[in-house]
Amino acid sequence: MAHIITVGNEKGGSGKSTTALHLAVYLLYQGFSVATIDVDSRQQTLTRYVRNRRATADASKREVLMPKHVHLPTAWGDSITENQRVELDIFERTMNGLNNEVDFVVIDTPGFDGNLARLAHGAADTLITPINDSMIDIDVLARIDPKTGAPLEASPYTRNVHKARAERQKTGRNLDWVLVRNRISNLASNNASRVQDLVDSLAGGLGCRVAAGIAERVIFRSLFLSGMTVFDPLDAEMLGSAPSISHVNARHEYRALVAALNLPQLDALKLSA
Ligand SMILES: Nc1ncnc2c1ncn2[C@@H]1O[C@H](COP(=O)(O)OP(=O)(O)OP(=O)(O)O)[C@@H](O)[C@H]1O
Ligand SMILES: [Mg+2]
Repeated sequence: MAHIITVGNEKGGSGKSTTALHLAVYLLYQGFSVATIDVDSRQQTLTRYVRNRRATADASKREVLMPKHVHLPTAWGDSITENQRVELDIFERTMNGLNNEVDFVVIDTPGFDGNLARLAHGAADTLITPINDSMIDIDVLARIDPKTGAPLEASPYTRNVHKARAERQKTGRNLDWVLVRNRISNLASNNASRVQDLVDSLAGGLGCRVAAGIAERVIFRSLFLSGMTVFDPLDAEMLGSAPSISHVNARHEYRALVAALNLPQLDALKLSA
C-alpha cells in the first residue's frame, strides 16, 4: 500500500506546491517510486512544475528522476451532487490504481476548501501544512484571543482536518498532521518568535505536531522555471542558475523536515548527510 502524503492549507501561497515537489523528489532520490497528484485545478502549479522539470530533462539529455504525475480536474457541471460524484469516482479510481504501483503518493491541494481538497485530506496518512510567520496564518488554524493569545476555537480548516481524521480512525487508520513553518525570515523579529511560540503552544490542542521549518530563500522562486529542486545536482545547467550555499542549506532543512515526518518506509533508511 502506498503511503499518502497530502500537502494542505486553506491559506494561499504558504508553500504547498513547492513543498510537494521537494518531498516527491527527495523520495525519488531515496529510491522510492513516487506519484504526484495535483488537485489544484485553477493554478495547477505542481503540474507546471513537473512539466518544467520534464522540459529541463529533455533539453539537458541527462537523467532526471520524475514522479508519475496526475492532474485531477475539478468537475464543472450544473449539479453540485453530480460534480461531487464525478470527483469522488475519479479520485478513488486514481488512488486505487496508484496504491499498488508506487511507494508514495504526494498530493498538492489548492489554498481553499473544495470537494477534491477534502478527498485529498481524507486520504492522507501524513498531512503537511506549511504556514508562514504571520498571525494570519495562525488564524487559518485557530481563532486566537488577541489579548491573551489563548486559542478560542478551531478554525474551519482545522475542523475539516479533525473530521478527516475521525473518518479515517473509524477504519483503523490515522492521520499524522504536521505543521511546517515555511519562509522563515533570516532576521530574528519579535513577530516571528511570537508566531513560533504560538504555533508550539497551539499544536497539542489542535492535534498536530510541528516540524523543523524552511527558511525564506530566493532560490525557491527560480527553481520553479527549471522544475528543479534543492535535491537535484547542484550545477548551473540543471538549476538554471549558479549553485549557492543557499541550495545546500535548503537541502539540509528539507532533509530535516522529511526526517521529522517519521515516514514508515524511511525509518529503515539512514538519511545521508
Ligand atoms: N522557503 C521559501 N523561500 C522563499 N520563497 C518561497 C519558499 N517556499 C515557497 N516560496 C515561494 O512562495 C510562493 C508560493 O509558494 P507555493 O506556490 O509553493 O505556495 P502554495 O501554498 O502552493 O500557493 P497556492 O495556495 O497559491 O497554491 C512561490 O513564489 C514560491 O516560489
Ligand atoms: Mg499551490
